Amino acid sequence: MGKTVKWGILGLGNIAHKFALDLALVPQGELVAVASRSLEKAKDFANSIPQDPKYQLGSYEALFENDEVEVIYIATPHHAHKKWAIEAMKHGKHVLCEKPVGINKGEVADMIACARENNVFLMEGLWSRFNPALLKMKAVIDGGLIGEVKFIQADFAFNAMGRSLESRVWNPELAGGTLLDIGIYPIFLSYWLLGLPEKISAEAHFHPLGVDQQLSMLFTYPDAYANLHSSFTCESEMQATIGGTKGHILIHPRWHETNGFTVVTDERTDVEEITKGKGYTHEIEEVHRVLGSGALQSPYWSWENSLDLVGLMDEVRALIGLRYPFEKAD
Ligand SMILES: NC(=O)c1ccc[n+]([C@@H]2O[C@H](COP(=O)([O-])OP(=O)(O)OC[C@H]3O[C@@H](n4cnc5c(N)ncnc54)[C@H](OP(=O)(O)O)[C@@H]3O)[C@@H](O)[C@H]2O)c1
Repeated sequence: MGKTVKWGILGLGNIAHKFALDLALVPQGELVAVASRSLEKAKDFANSIPQDPKYQLGSYEALFENDEVEVIYIATPHHAHKKWAIEAMKHGKHVLCEKPVGINKGEVADMIACARENNVFLMEGLWSRFNPALLKMKAVIDGGLIGEVKFIQADFAFNAMGRSLESRVWNPELAGGTLLDIGIYPIFLSYWLLGLPEKISAEAHFHPLGVDQQLSMLFTYPDAYANLHSSFTCESEMQATIGGTKGHILIHPRWHETNGFTVVTDERTDVEEITKGKGYTHEIEEVHRVLGSGALQSPYWSWENSLDLVGLMDEVRALIGLRYPFEKAD
């Protein structure tokens, strides 16, 4: 085991809490600092997790100035990822940034340029890419057991219509809506298995506050289709299907954080692969591995992968006519 990696968390909301619980399960990771815009919140957060972070900070700037912190996990709403990731990297900190790493291709390109200039690590927290069951499933597909993939059906949906109008998910200023929040996962699956599509079709229903509340996408490949959906308006089991010429795979719900899948050919085989904790442990281990190697990006979820993914979301947004208010006009 290599040396301890000293972490700081920026933005102490819902996901930051889950992440901290998983970080506690990775022996090489030490949570030394948590930073909120409110000191009281930082103290409450520190009291709610198993670690006892040495620094409980009432500003993000104090986290950047902290000499002990090596890598910062950014867990703010989408609109602020770029701003805080760039500040962190300018202070020489490595960054794991929640998905989507930036809200459009220009933002992601700026963030990558900043990582290069400051010689620091940057990775998008696309945790499904490191899910052990999904990795095993990809190996099964690559091994040819279900033949050529011709069809993907994947969704991410839950009914959030009862959430307050103050919620970040409805707020266009925070780049809310389903696409960047949850639609990113089915898009990731299609991109990971089939690459960039030849053509995209998309339609959305909009929330009165101006973000997409339900989104249906069709990715057309030279010889395959992916049927993708994200929604805050309805419940879904969230099983994904991969259809091949010799069989198909059912990814068990919820597919993006799955513990297994079923391969259906002439016979039916269930595969189980247990995730550690909630599943963020695996992306954390990847951060540690890459930092240990001295590289600035993960080969498994690279800067190019993040650029491709956000490029696909830019295309979908252009098709449904969704622009966040703070984006500059072309
Ligand atoms: N990987 C996953 O499974 C997963 C799951 C859910 C969400 N996410 C992602 O995680 C990120 C945060 O989501 P979340 O559900 O944790 O959100 P959240 O509960 O609203 O927390 C976001 C935190 O960001 C900070 N923040 C900074 N500027 C803010 C602003 N202008 N408005 C509101 N909060 C601001 C706040 O922390 P302080 O008050 O402490 O400064 C807030 O608590 C998003 O990128 C989301 O897509 C990922």
